[in-house]
Amino acid sequence: MGAEVRLLALLLTVLGGYLDLIVSTTTASTRVERSVPHGTWNENPNPDLTRIQGVVRLQRLYCRTRFHLQINADGKVNGTRDHTSPYALLQVRAVDVGILAIKGVKSGLYLAMNKRGKVYGSQRCLTSQKKLRDNCKWHETIEANNFNTYSSALHPKKRHRKGVRWYLSIAKNGRPRRGRKTKKTQRSAHFLPRHKSGRSRRRRDRMSRAQKRGKKQKN
Ligand SMILES: *[C@@H]1O[C@H](CO)[C@@H](O)[C@H](O)[C@H]1NC(C)=O
Repeated sequence: MGAEVRLLALLLTVLGGYLDLIVSTTTASTRVERSVPHGTWNENPNPDLTRIQGVVRLQRLYCRTRFHLQINADGKVNGTRDHTSPYALLQVRAVDVGILAIKGVKSGLYLAMNKRGKVYGSQRCLTSQKKLRDNCKWHETIEANNFNTYSSALHPKKRHRKGVRWYLSIAKNGRPRRGRKTKKTQRSAHFLPRHKSGRSRRRRDRMSRAQKRGKKQKN
């Protein structure tokens, strides 16, 4: 009985939130497949991004520290409480399975992490062959607590310990942490993608579920 109710609820949500599926499916691979219909979306205001293979979605990244990530025109990356901030609107494109390019719509800058783990907005993310550089690639992972983490594809390098990743994170003071100070278990490294039109019921549900679950973890 419980299982049937859950199934019915699931079906209703699926029907009600078809567009939302793109950012709220539960695994990276199905997410990539399901977002394929949006590949036909051709109102891309940033032509250089269209040259990279993949699908574009418009979204905001909401951090568990209650900030929206924003890429400012001066290249500074920080968090804002204002969910309408134009600098927080991001163009996200899958360049490979689970690998994303993240670009600020208003600033036109890519989200990047340098060798020393500093997060910033960069305008030099494409090589002359229009390939995305590693410091501008983000590895998106859906963690067990339902939040997403974004780790820099630049790390780990050979000289780093095996398996050590550096994560995108917005600390309580609204500033990104240095890569080496991040862990995937920190609240500041936990994000939820939000559809550009604002928060949806599905997203809110997912967030409160994730937060309930997160309370059991110690961060
Ligand atoms: C984020 O950076 C911008 C531009 O540098 C600045 O104007 C803004 O006050 C900063 N916001 C926070 C919360 O630090």
